[in-house]
Amino acid sequence: MFSEMPEAVLARMRYLEEIDRVDRVDGTSRMKRLRQVTPVTGRFVTLMASIAPPGTYIEIGTSADYSTLWLGLACKQLGRRLITYEILPDKVAMARETLVSTQFDSFVELVHGDAREHLADLQDVAFCFLDAEKEIYRDCYDLVMPRMVSGALLVADNAINHRDTLQPMIDYALVDDRVDAMVVGIEKGVLVCRKK
Ligand SMILES: C[S@@+](CC[C@H](N)C(=O)[O-])C[C@H]1O[C@@H](n2cnc3c(N)ncnc32)[C@H](O)[C@@H]1O
Repeated sequence: MFSEMPEAVLARMRYLEEIDRVDRVDGTSRMKRLRQVTPVTGRFVTLMASIAPPGTYIEIGTSADYSTLWLGLACKQLGRRLITYEILPDKVAMARETLVSTQFDSFVELVHGDAREHLADLQDVAFCFLDAEKEIYRDCYDLVMPRMVSGALLVADNAINHRDTLQPMIDYALVDDRVDAMVVGIEKGVLVCRKK
């Protein structure tokens, strides 16, 4: 996957990385910033996605589709479809540009809206990447977990740098009988849960 990344994907990743880098230092407001995963986290979630079982792949918190491109590498290789949810219209517009310019629109469905209003419609979820506002992680976990197949993976970013907000949700997952879970200490910390 990583050694065969299409030039259009690499170019769009570089473009989005530069916007994100500038946003972080020029005073762009938090809601407008892209707040993308780091390239290392991108690789990690791609590897996790590549070992998930067959079923529905979802991403909660699209921004401009940077992490979607990483996940898309795994989906493309496995022939799986990915649904990604974003609530802000400006980001949806950028995300659409990303999908069209990379031709990932053939297997990625971009849904505009509050993910929580859509998750109950899902079934057979095999992989979930959770990277939205930290205050909604627990709601998303509660909606997605019953809809996950055995062996499915839920991967949530910012488990260490947003520990203050996320600790109750992480503590819940760590003792949830339905999953095996741990926090992986790479980059900003990633909670990984595998459905039994
Ligand atoms: C940290 S950013 C996502 C970054 C993206 N995963 C990446 O690495 O490129 C979080 C995104 O979640 C979106 N978001 C927040 N609450 C949401 C909700 N309830 N439903 C869907 N998207 C939401 C925000 O608008 C924001 O774009």
